Amino acid sequence: MELGAAMRERFALDPGIAFLNHGSFGATPRAVLAAQQHWRERLERDPVTFLSWDLRELLPAAIRALAGFVGAREEHLVLVDNATTAVNSVLRSLPLAPGDEVVTIDHVYASVQHALEFLCGQAGATLRLVRVPVPVQGPDDFVQAFAGALTERTRLALVDHITSPTALICPVREIIDLCHARGVPVLVDGAHGPGMLELDLESLGADWYAGNCHKWLLAPKGCGFLWAAPHRQAELHPPVVSYFHGQGFQREFGWTGTRDPSAWLSVHAALDFLEELGFERVRTHNRRLAWDGASCLARAWGLEPLAPREMLGAMVTLPTPRPLPPTIEDCDVASVRLREEHGIVVPIYPFQERTWVRISAQVYNDQSQYEALARALPQVLDTLPAADLPR
Ligand SMILES: Cc1ncc(COP(=O)(O)O)c(C=O)c1O
Repeated sequence: MELGAAMRERFALDPGIAFLNHGSFGATPRAVLAAQQHWRERLERDPVTFLSWDLRELLPAAIRALAGFVGAREEHLVLVDNATTAVNSVLRSLPLAPGDEVVTIDHVYASVQHALEFLCGQAGATLRLVRVPVPVQGPDDFVQAFAGALTERTRLALVDHITSPTALICPVREIIDLCHARGVPVLVDGAHGPGMLELDLESLGADWYAGNCHKWLLAPKGCGFLWAAPHRQAELHPPVVSYFHGQGFQREFGWTGTRDPSAWLSVHAALDFLEELGFERVRTHNRRLAWDGASCLARAWGLEPLAPREMLGAMVTLPTPRPLPPTIEDCDVASVRLREEHGIVVPIYPFQERTWVRISAQVYNDQSQYEALARALPQVLDTLPAADLPR
């Protein structure tokens, strides 16, 4: 089937909007939502049999399917609600002590930064948040940021596979090698990795990898995973202590209290959907369309890309064509106006004293939608009240 506008009928998205923000929460194909509904109905026919017995086989089968796709051994993988939960599981399991240090960069996702600040604060440890100024010259900017911040007190390095505000692919393998050479374990926040990048988690060499299936893998919301190297599993616990505490990595994470596992079980349907279109074809399409869309915006607005093309995936961040005061409130005004007046959904936000717009490209997007954004955003910014523009 052709990718682009024709794909829109296979998603539940409002046909009246140009949805250019797959990156925030994903969007799920109708076939995957139907599979999720099937699982919910099966559960509700006999909740006890389903949750107490059937799930014992269904959950490992879902893990097995996902493990095959991300290059993991199934016994090293558990399902969680989302990447935030996966990251918190690792951070809360770390025995941080006063004087210890944790290193990451300022492109880190806000929720993860807050978790790091909170847990370092509780332990009397220090968070070293290294600034990597934009534009980024190349992958080495990220490697050098970590290299300059590691000390003998560093207990953890956290690196994004794809950064959220800047949408850049980080050289995770180089950073892992660097950190390991200095005896520092590495947690990769791969919230955007699965489905956007080809993964081989067993050979990547990370200590932990947190991933989402509800973004680029097209699973229903509430489907994330945590991969852990074998020597990290004994000390790793879910943030919610529950029924199988102390009974092993997979048993503990497999039951954190009564919940609806239908998003997890629908991972098969999401993989089937992508396989039908072609995994590599989808990745290539999305990357190329993001680049073409960004090039169209850059030309229209007279701007340069944020980083070399090799660092860009299926999302691209550009400066807004006219700077806004760098506050979330000011940016939200522009996002909401763009949605209400032009039917375009795209995130606008502040980062490093500037304001940015991040486009995503997915199988249901096409070039005309970025052209519409190129025309609409300057119009919205021009009509914002003067008080909302920089003084
Ligand atoms: C880099 C990064 N980490 C973590 C998250 C959190 O993902 P979730 O809300 O699914 O936990 C996001 C969400 O966009 C992200 O971009």
